[in-house]
Amino acid sequence: MRITKVFRQKPKTGILMLNMGGPSTLPEVKPFLSRLFNDRDLLKLPFNQELMAKFITERRYRMIEKHYDEIGGGSPIGKWTGLQGDKMVELLDEMNPESAPHKYYIGFRYAAPLTENAISQIERDQPEHVVAFTQYPQYSCATTGSSLNHIARLYGEMGQKPSSTWSVIDRWPVWEGLIDAFAECTIAGLNQIPEEDRHKAVILFSAHSLPLSAVERGDPYPHEVAATVYAVMQKLGFRNPWRVTWQSQVGPKKWLSPKTDEVLEEFSKRGRKSLVIVPIAFTSDHIETLHELDIEFAEEAEKAGLKHYIRAPALNDNSTFCQSLADRVQHHLNVEIPRGESFNAQLGLRCPKCTNPSCQEMRNFFNERKRMLYASK
Ligand code: FES
Repeated sequence: MRITKVFRQKPKTGILMLNMGGPSTLPEVKPFLSRLFNDRDLLKLPFNQELMAKFITERRYRMIEKHYDEIGGGSPIGKWTGLQGDKMVELLDEMNPESAPHKYYIGFRYAAPLTENAISQIERDQPEHVVAFTQYPQYSCATTGSSLNHIARLYGEMGQKPSSTWSVIDRWPVWEGLIDAFAECTIAGLNQIPEEDRHKAVILFSAHSLPLSAVERGDPYPHEVAATVYAVMQKLGFRNPWRVTWQSQVGPKKWLSPKTDEVLEEFSKRGRKSLVIVPIAFTSDHIETLHELDIEFAEEAEKAGLKHYIRAPALNDNSTFCQSLADRVQHHLNVEIPRGESFNAQLGLRCPKCTNPSCQEMRNFFNERKRMLYASK
């Protein structure tokens, strides 16, 4: 078991690492699914959200428990986020003594450690400043948006204003260190293909899919995924052909396509027998890499007659990536905040067809935090 560093000094800067999270044990699967299906910022279920969420959770949890069992009994996302956070604050304490001591908090949306517990701990610690730092590099209203809405909602429910000043890193799809880390992982994947086939290999950048209804509302996610992919390929000198594909679709609605699993056979039929799959929207391994890509799609690849089906390593504790986390926060503290950018200008703009009042309430909340931050300077 990992021993978390005991924090004796009052932190000056808190960094709240936001992500969806995953159940780290099998008994956590059901509550994880229940929170996920109850999240109206992620998906709106017909009729009664609570009843429908209960119904879907009951129907699906045994199968999903089985998947977690097959990857070792739980999601490693908490473990990886903890290691990334440890490294990030260690680097930041050295790189940026003026904002030290730094302390990270993990705020998962659907599994422990939950955002609500992180907020309670932040209120006990009362750091001078808190940076809400999304661990989704590309912004979607269904992911980062949902986490930020949740923070605003939690403070609203507590009926209190935050004790600290707050700012937000709400996206970082082309941050140089992130691109370097993805490029390293892509090369590590390519290098597993024998040299004679390597140059012909197709790189499939696989990202979590999104319903087309969200895209039509104006969600920026697909464009930001494309930006990350293009920057990685630029870093690699466009040495191989590539495509973006989408995975993890659920339900009968139309989602982004092509689906990752569907293209395996198509490429194989056209003589493209070597593929490297790069998970481009995740910063660590979890069920979508360890089960969907490594077990389910690997079986599809075998059936399709692919010669090489390689899944590039996830970022996990990659040192370039951990350094990039620290660099990104340092840039935010030393460059963006002094420049008046306590969050990205894009966050101020709601999707043109958004009808979710929580999205406006969240913006009101962070606009108020922005006023307080600059009033305190
Ligand atoms: Fe995008 Fe509300 S759905 S801002």
